[in-house]
Amino acid sequence: MTDKINDDAGATLDPWGSSTIADYRSLFEEFGIEAFEDLLPSVPDPHYLMRRAIIFGHRDYDRVLEAMAADEPFAALSGFMPTGDPHIGHKLVFDELIWHQEQGGDTYALIADLEAHSARGLSWEEIDEHARDYLLSLLAFGFDPEDGELYRQSEHRPVQDLAFELGIETNFSELEAIYGFDGETDVSHMQSVVTQMADILYPQLEDPKPTVIPVGPDQDPHMRLARDVAARMRYFGVTTAYASFEADPEELAPIERAFDALSDDDETVRCGDAADWLADHGGDDPGTAGAIEKLRAAGKEPLRPRVRFLDRKATDAAFEALIEAVDGEKRVYDEHVDAFEMSHDDAESLAREVEVDHGGYGFQLPTSIYHRFMTGLTGGKMSSSIPASHISLLDDPSEGKSKVQAATTAGRETAEEQRELGGEPDQCPVYELYAYLLAGDDDEYAKRVYDECRNGERLCGGCKNEAAEAMKSFLEAHQQRREELRPVLEDLDVAIAPDRI
Ligand code: TRP
Ligand code: SF4
Repeated sequence: MTDKINDDAGATLDPWGSSTIADYRSLFEEFGIEAFEDLLPSVPDPHYLMRRAIIFGHRDYDRVLEAMAADEPFAALSGFMPTGDPHIGHKLVFDELIWHQEQGGDTYALIADLEAHSARGLSWEEIDEHARDYLLSLLAFGFDPEDGELYRQSEHRPVQDLAFELGIETNFSELEAIYGFDGETDVSHMQSVVTQMADILYPQLEDPKPTVIPVGPDQDPHMRLARDVAARMRYFGVTTAYASFEADPEELAPIERAFDALSDDDETVRCGDAADWLADHGGDDPGTAGAIEKLRAAGKEPLRPRVRFLDRKATDAAFEALIEAVDGEKRVYDEHVDAFEMSHDDAESLAREVEVDHGGYGFQLPTSIYHRFMTGLTGGKMSSSIPASHISLLDDPSEGKSKVQAATTAGRETAEEQRELGGEPDQCPVYELYAYLLAGDDDEYAKRVYDECRNGERLCGGCKNEAAEAMKSFLEAHQQRREELRPVLEDLDVAIAPDRI
């Protein structure tokens, strides 16, 4: 099954389709995205998008928070496909990048021009125009170009080179399974996928570090592939083992239980004894039968916990250097080394260090955070291709104002009913405008709009007028700032309209 197939829970994750997500919670069970709210208490000075649960999910973002707390290097990167004007939905990602930059992260924003050209068929002229607009808005919202990097995929040689390397670890069947590619899919579209993998890992090219990719959940298939490919590029795998044989992950838990049960006295625990113990106390772990078989085969061999370094892609020199660097008792085999006196964490660091010293990348798995999509002003999805559904950051401020006034609401049929029953802010695109954008950092204001709507004090006409005025001022201020920053953009080293063959 590919991610494109719409399932019962209403989640479709298709980077090039129209992802609609009926129930964000289904993404947790279905794709293993974790709930952001569990991390919220450990975020220093969280952004309002985090506080209001607009950023709702993550993969492994704990690692970035740990780096932040320890004042260690971390990075943030996201990309924009220049298929139309930047709109207020893109501001979420701009804000997320800028926030990470303010927290001290190395921050990158890129223009996915290769993807726009190959997957969406845009001409280079259109792409150049839109690229300029995205970057200008990002600068206008506060991205510091001195302290971060802006680039276009097509102009970035190291990213292209990395994409080529990553392509060696990616095959067609995978792209077929993940994206539903088939025999008709053009090669450049596939190349844009490995380019995105390279974008995601690029912040770690010099030094491995925790990296967050803020995106919408439609990009999660890319995240999963990037994490798999990052792992495949590693020289060594670090696992836990109890004897010389290789146990599957599900066999480890029963082996560990047998070891813990038998290792009380000082006597050596033999594999065969552990097999007997498991046969009696086995339980119904899926790995039990396999564990018994392997332990039985190992017979008299002592059972001893250890960390194991597996040689996956290491050069001979790197493998030799690793063997040399393992402290304490160790045992060397053809394609792995067992270390008896090292913690798993220390083993991970050592493996990465040796890899990097010997010309490997040592990538950490990239992490991600996911934000909700904004609802379109006319209901349904906010989409660049439906002008009335979104407010472009380039819309004339008075046009922005009228779009808000014309927006669909979740109020009642009549004022009377509204006073009596209250509106439904959770379903209302206008409330979203307040929560995602217009209330800014002012939680009390957002809450007041919400409460007044719920309890019937607020009527849609007035509520929309208030939002429409705020939208007008927002657009005026933003567009003025864009004009101020135009010369800054022209001076930057981002090739906006490069020469092409
Ligand atoms: N595919 C993304 C989009 O459709 C754009 C993109 C390219 C991107 N490279 C990226 C996003 C790296 C995040 C990280 O908008
Ligand atoms: Fe939406 Fe405002 Fe009407 Fe409530 S009062 S339904 S928030 S427009």
